[in-house]
Amino acid sequence: MADPLLSFSLLLLLSLLLSTTTTTTADDAATFLKLASALTPTPKGWSTTNSNDYCNWNGVKCDNSNNVISINLATQSLSGILPSELSTLSQLQSLSLQENKLSGALPSLANLASLREIYIGTNNFTSIPQDCFKGLTSLQTLSMNDNINLESWVISTDLTESSSLTTFEASNAKIFGTIPDMFASFPSLQNLRLSYNNLTGGLPPSFANSEIQNLWLNNQEMGLSGNIEVLSSMVQLSQVWLQKNQFTGPVPDLSMSKNLFDLQLRDNQFTGILPVSLHSLPGLLNISLSNNKLQGPVPQFGKDVIVDNSGLNNFCVDTAGVACDPQVTTLLEIAGGFGYPVTLSDSWKGNDACSGWPFVLCDSSKKTVTTVSLGKQHFGGIISPAFANLTALTTLKLNDNNLSGPIPDSLAKLSQLSLLDVSNNNLTGKIPSFATSVKLTTTPGNPFLGSGGGPGSGGAPSPGSDSNTTAPGDGPNGKGIGGKKVSPGLIAGIVVGLVIVGVIGLFLLFKINIKKKRGKSGRVKDQENGDGISALVTNDSSCCTKGYGVLSEIQSQSSGNHSGRNIFEGGNNVISIEAF
Ligand SMILES: *[C@@H]1O[C@H](CO)[C@@H](O)[C@H](O)[C@H]1NC(C)=O
Ligand SMILES: *[C@@H]1O[C@H](CO)[C@@H](O)[C@H](O)[C@H]1NC(C)=O
Ligand SMILES: *[C@@H]1O[C@H](CO)[C@@H](O)[C@H](O)[C@H]1NC(C)=O
Ligand SMILES: *[C@@H]1O[C@H](CO)[C@@H](O)[C@H](O)[C@H]1NC(C)=O
Ligand SMILES: *[C@@H]1O[C@H](CO)[C@@H](O)[C@H](O)[C@H]1NC(C)=O
Ligand SMILES: *[C@@H]1O[C@H](CO)[C@@H](O)[C@H](O)[C@H]1NC(C)=O
Ligand SMILES: *[C@@H]1O[C@H](CO)[C@@H](O)[C@H](O)[C@H]1NC(C)=O
Repeated sequence: MADPLLSFSLLLLLSLLLSTTTTTTADDAATFLKLASALTPTPKGWSTTNSNDYCNWNGVKCDNSNNVISINLATQSLSGILPSELSTLSQLQSLSLQENKLSGALPSLANLASLREIYIGTNNFTSIPQDCFKGLTSLQTLSMNDNINLESWVISTDLTESSSLTTFEASNAKIFGTIPDMFASFPSLQNLRLSYNNLTGGLPPSFANSEIQNLWLNNQEMGLSGNIEVLSSMVQLSQVWLQKNQFTGPVPDLSMSKNLFDLQLRDNQFTGILPVSLHSLPGLLNISLSNNKLQGPVPQFGKDVIVDNSGLNNFCVDTAGVACDPQVTTLLEIAGGFGYPVTLSDSWKGNDACSGWPFVLCDSSKKTVTTVSLGKQHFGGIISPAFANLTALTTLKLNDNNLSGPIPDSLAKLSQLSLLDVSNNNLTGKIPSFATSVKLTTTPGNPFLGSGGGPGSGGAPSPGSDSNTTAPGDGPNGKGIGGKKVSPGLIAGIVVGLVIVGVIGLFLLFKINIKKKRGKSGRVKDQENGDGISALVTNDSSCCTKGYGVLSEIQSQSSGNHSGRNIFEGGNNVISIEAF
């Protein structure tokens, strides 16, 4: 049993030894001899027989110790397979091989810690080694668009070691899988271009507060999905290409992105009403909306804006700037409470809610909505207070969804209401005082929906209701898991526990306060001396990764060079001290 393990370990050790010896003994001249022989045609001024003079070859730059720091062989119609020895050029800072016909596996570039830029786009590489981009701690630009012969590959989180990354371009490069949630590691990232791949899944949450300016994720084979809410916090955005994906949900408020000039949203499944703030974005030049499921009025942009809005959508009217019928507006607001589900966009078309819209019934004159029946639709979100604007509503069924938040007080003002069913959701808060004529059903489900117990609150079940209503006296947490009553003993135990935790907490707070008062002046002094900064950063890494939004903001004001980095790290510490 142990034998295979032992031999495996030995093999591992051996290969480790071998790889270290090759790295230490390899000399750049030998590597260049290999490289010259591998390329067809041989680059002008290069030799395949003698490489003593490699530092003077065209496109090669060395440092004073004859270590190669830069290779530029762009646009020379070169074909061939790069030798794996490329990975031994330990001082390499810049590698430009774009626009050739290089093929085969790209050699691993792992641990080339000086490498700042990699340009390998428009080639014919067939595979990317698994660890290729590991340990590239100086990397700022990775550009590898248009490598259409690559085996499908996924973006590796090894890239998170490249914390200075400003540009990552790999469009049309056979990437599949999800966009990893790693963008908190790239406080300087400005350009992310991953168009024309087969990316799926949602936008990573770590896009939030990033410094990304140009975001190109358009034309994915299967399509990225989910909502694009995170864009509203990406205030540096200037160009956003999301066309040809499967995004859903509403277009968020992008008014914080003052530099946004180009927003391509066409050919997705966006729903909802475009935020008015988008119409008035000062720098907007170019926007596409065609072929979505957008609702509400057709947006009206300034006359200098190029608008592609010719394709399908579910706008209520055809004319830009014309408002929808008030009842339609109310129903759209209600749909907005549920996050503008696609089902409602597809069912509620046109500008007359009484023209046979699904889920809706009207009075005999076909003018006024009297019933809204949206049970079992898998809707999340909240119950919109806008229901109160459907003043003739008699029946409202919202049962068996995944709704959260309160039952809006405004619903109690609906004078015609006779039936309200919200059972099997996850509502919270206190139940508004409904008239006794309302048959109210809140359970099963809604374990956190309470009566609130305030004087005159209408938490008590109405007489007409079925057995499945909230029992009086059931506080928000009155029921344990599985609906069992919590024993008084358990409650007493929890209370005693909470008191003890509270006392300990207060004591700790008190101690920390004393420490802070003593320590504060000392720390700040350390910083002025210039040392102690890095110590603080490493000691306090949790504070600093969290606060990176602030950090990158400060950095963007500086030039982004290395001295700028020190400044913002220091700046962040000032903030972290104040926060304690
Ligand atoms: C690219 O590589 C493929 C497969 O290795 C090969 O068939 C094709 O001829 C190459 N194309 C060019 C332009 O070199
Ligand atoms: C795209 O990726 C999915 C898996 O994520 C795969 O099933 C599908 O075949 C891929 N499509 C193409 C064209 O490669
Ligand atoms: C607007 O965007 C479309 C699609 O990206 C592009 O083809 C067109 O050139 C752009 N026009 C301007 C004026 O930027
Ligand atoms: C609902 O009614 C309120 C007050 O009556 C009004 O301010 C609001 O605009 C209405 N909302 C809709 C969607 O009609
Ligand atoms: C219900 O909503 C919660 C968030 O409020 C969400 O985490 C959960 O996944 C949803 N469940 C279903 C079945 O949609
Ligand atoms: C219901 O809401 C509570 C509190 O708002 C939350 O903790 C719980 O996860 C939710 N349950 C579901 C199934 O969404
Ligand atoms: C509520 O109704 C369900 C079936 O719809 C039943 O199993 C459950 O016992 C009822 N709960 C109460 C408290 O009556």
